[in-house]
Amino acid sequence: MELRFIFSLSFLLLSSTSFITESKCNKGCNLALASYTLTNDVNLTYISNIMKSNVLRKPQDIIITNNKSKSKRVNVPFPCDCINGEFLAHTFVYQFQPGETYTSVAEDDFSNLTTDVWLQNFNIYRPTNIPDFGMINVSVNCSCGNRKVSKDYGLFITYPLRSEDTLESIAKDTEIAADLLQRYNPGVNFSQGSGLVFIPGKDQNGSYMPLHSSTIGIVAIVGISVGVLAGLLLLSICVYIKYYLKEKAWKKKNLILDDPNMNSDQTGTHITGIIVENSLEFSYEELSVATNNFSEDNKIGEGGFGEVFYAELRGQIAAVKKMKMKASKEFYAELKVLTRVHHLNLVRLIGYCVEGFLFLVYEYIDNGNLSQNLRDLEREPLPWSTRMQIALDSARGLEYIHEHTVRVYIHRDIKSENILLDKNFRAKVADFGLSKLADVENSTSSAIVAEGTFGYMPPENAYGHISRKIDVYAFGVVLYELISAKAAVIKIDKNEFKSLEIRTNESVDEYKSLVALFDEVIDDEEGLRKLVDPRLGDNYSIDSIKKMTQLAKTCTNRDPKQRPRMRAVMVSLMKLNSSIDDRSMIVSEALSPTMEHDD
Ligand SMILES: Nc1ncnc2c1ncn2[C@@H]1O[C@H](COP(=O)(O)OP(=O)(O)OP(=O)(O)O)[C@@H](O)[C@H]1O
Ligand SMILES: *[C@@H]1O[C@H](CO)[C@@H](O)[C@H](O)[C@H]1NC(C)=O
Ligand SMILES: *[C@@H]1O[C@H](CO)[C@@H](O)[C@H](O)[C@H]1NC(C)=O
Ligand SMILES: *[C@@H]1O[C@H](CO)[C@@H](O)[C@H](O)[C@H]1NC(C)=O
Ligand SMILES: [Mg+2]
Repeated sequence: MELRFIFSLSFLLLSSTSFITESKCNKGCNLALASYTLTNDVNLTYISNIMKSNVLRKPQDIIITNNKSKSKRVNVPFPCDCINGEFLAHTFVYQFQPGETYTSVAEDDFSNLTTDVWLQNFNIYRPTNIPDFGMINVSVNCSCGNRKVSKDYGLFITYPLRSEDTLESIAKDTEIAADLLQRYNPGVNFSQGSGLVFIPGKDQNGSYMPLHSSTIGIVAIVGISVGVLAGLLLLSICVYIKYYLKEKAWKKKNLILDDPNMNSDQTGTHITGIIVENSLEFSYEELSVATNNFSEDNKIGEGGFGEVFYAELRGQIAAVKKMKMKASKEFYAELKVLTRVHHLNLVRLIGYCVEGFLFLVYEYIDNGNLSQNLRDLEREPLPWSTRMQIALDSARGLEYIHEHTVRVYIHRDIKSENILLDKNFRAKVADFGLSKLADVENSTSSAIVAEGTFGYMPPENAYGHISRKIDVYAFGVVLYELISAKAAVIKIDKNEFKSLEIRTNESVDEYKSLVALFDEVIDDEEGLRKLVDPRLGDNYSIDSIKKMTQLAKTCTNRDPKQRPRMRAVMVSLMKLNSSIDDRSMIVSEALSPTMEHDD
């Protein structure tokens, strides 16, 4: 009696937990099959080219079935991934050919394994606006089986229904009982002539593959006393639920991090950040197509290391940085690490290409760099509150690479050109990790100036002292820029300030650094007001500006040891941002420098 109760209870709990697993996925499986109908236009070589993967390397890997149906179908092996914890599918990358549409890609090239609607979910291009030879994501659904239906089948065919198909014809063809087929595809009418069903499939050797058994066999514990069984079950369920919730939260977080710059307002259903995971290396050809042959029209900007181009790459918008130098072996290894650094306030490195020269592929940031936003008179002036947010955002990005990455990164090129603003004017730090490239290259080539930019360099730089504190100094200069909208180096011209940025090798006699300019007014409120960006009008709090100025002053202290760490700077800016009304006691904490040595 009691025994039966416990068993039915555990059955209930077990089936409800396995229900959770199947409604959303938490892992995929190595192998699934796609049923592809051969036509006059396609042969196995073509199929294996467009559906290449780690389980399909050559045309011979495709499984020829001897079914008796009218159309000749083959089974194409492909990996079945759990996408964003939401559903099972594999995403192929397909090069769009002139004259094609989403519909023709789905119906002809991919043999109805996907639909035009489903394609549009994974690609930013509007149906009428897909670039010729552009790369698009093609997602094909799959199944890894269902423990609740049967443990005998663990390999499944994604099967597009054709007009000649019925439940009976498929059952006859596959020798799988009709009711089992129906239970794998609840509610599906097999005679509907279109849509996907999942049916058990045979592997290369012609045998069915059973479902991997991963849970502890219940049979093994039946003999154990009822108490132990109940205890174990409860414990494992608790652990399972805890793990499940944690994993789900983690995936949610990741989804957000993966998807910071896609315009979700365009269609609301974009799923991104899938493809880039395992294909960090791009071919030169692909980048060339994505940037219109590195055309002048696609060029966004140019800096000390090379040029930056707008790119449409695999259905995503990206910025491709074409470097002047080649990647050394050391840097090549470094690149792989850099692609794994993710933070909301860092411009993400998606991938790279090392054919000939070095190309870096970054997420595209919509609103240009901070320098443009402060000094380009055609742009709307940034309100003071936005500037404070930008200061905090970039402090967070910098703090992250100083304190939280596996190896400490010193940026060495913090400046307003390397702070980019997204569509909501939130800031992201660009180009971190590149100083290492410069280090290696400098020994062989003197053509590249990479010791930072004049106006942002602290005094100790002249002696070659490299520590995190050189970034803190440059960050202080950026704070001064936010307040004044002036460049880091200013040309003095008959008491009028004219901004001009210069590089190290020019004469500096008639120039003044922004740091020196602010040093003159530190205890002089009137003087300070004169330095505030005139485009702010009266729309700022002098109190807040004073505190920001004090913070910038400690950051630009001549003695690196007197400068705070980015952690403290970040905390001060957090307080400054959150306490517009509570204007007491703000910056004081960061103002007392950290005594620890950090170099
Ligand atoms: N990921 C990106 N998204 C959008 N625009 C970008 C991106 N990366 C760079 N840019 C733009 O291209 C310009 C040139 O960048 P680049 O890094 O080559 O030079 P820089 O930042 O001016 O100087 P440096 O070479 O010292 O970093 C930037 O100022 C910025 O406006
Ligand atoms: C397969 O088709 C392609 C064109 O789609 C053709 O170039 C190739 O020769 C064909 N291969 C075979 C083995 O028939
Ligand atoms: C895909 O479906 C469409 C519409 O149902 C059909 O016309 C077309 O022939 C199918 N394609 C293949 C390769 O079977
Ligand atoms: C693939 O699966 C998803 C999630 O279950 C579904 O929304 C989508 O319509 C499916 N796509 C196709 C082409 O059947
Ligand atoms: Mg840059």
